[in-house]
Amino acid sequence: MAKKKSTKNWLNKHSSDRYVKLSQLGDYRSRAFHKLHEIDEKYKILKYSKNILDLGSAPGSWSEYITRNYEDKTLVAIDVLQMKPIDNTYFIRGDINKKTDREKIFEKMNKADLVLSDIAPNITGIEDVDQANFERILESILDICLDLLKINGVLIMKFFIGSSYDESRKKLKKSFNKVGSYKPQSSRSSSNEIFFICNGFKD
Ligand SMILES: C[S@@+](CC[C@H](N)C(=O)[O-])C[C@H]1O[C@@H](n2cnc3c(N)ncnc32)[C@H](O)[C@@H]1O
Repeated sequence: MAKKKSTKNWLNKHSSDRYVKLSQLGDYRSRAFHKLHEIDEKYKILKYSKNILDLGSAPGSWSEYITRNYEDKTLVAIDVLQMKPIDNTYFIRGDINKKTDREKIFEKMNKADLVLSDIAPNITGIEDVDQANFERILESILDICLDLLKINGVLIMKFFIGSSYDESRKKLKKSFNKVGSYKPQSSRSSSNEIFFICNGFKD
């Protein structure tokens, strides 16, 4: 019973959220597109990136944002969940933690200018488990970068601040010249979500 009430509260809060309303007006699949929009406005990265990889792409608002706002991009998207087709986007249903699924990416794209990750592993609420899941995602993303990100390429990845934050940032610093973090306004203030903005891939 209590659970039903809290689900209802979340739904009420979610549907009155300014960014949810704006996504519906813009006919985007989720409010997540605002985060990429803000990142794009601030860092102007999409304009200069031809080959783009969208990790954790479903339901698809980041891919929609890219294909609606930019022409001539090669976009490959991957998610463990199914994603309804988007024009000019090659979708792979797969898990980036699995080598065989990562190889499916390389069959479609062997050099990327930009790797985006909005991946959120299932949150258990158990700090150690959640941070370990994020570390695993980080390792898989770094493997993908090693295989296909161009030298000086850019990685933008979602992370949840917790006990492994400093260590993860250090790890990224080994592979990129500059690692910053950014919290878009459209990211709920109650969430400890941030985005690592990593420039200058060293290989
Ligand atoms: C916040 S959603 C992404 C929203 C998306 N950027 C958009 O704009 O619609 C996070 C996604 O990460 C996906 N995900 C979680 N773990 C994954 C993994 N190991 N490999 C691929 N996708 C994963 C989830 O299935 C989920 O669809």
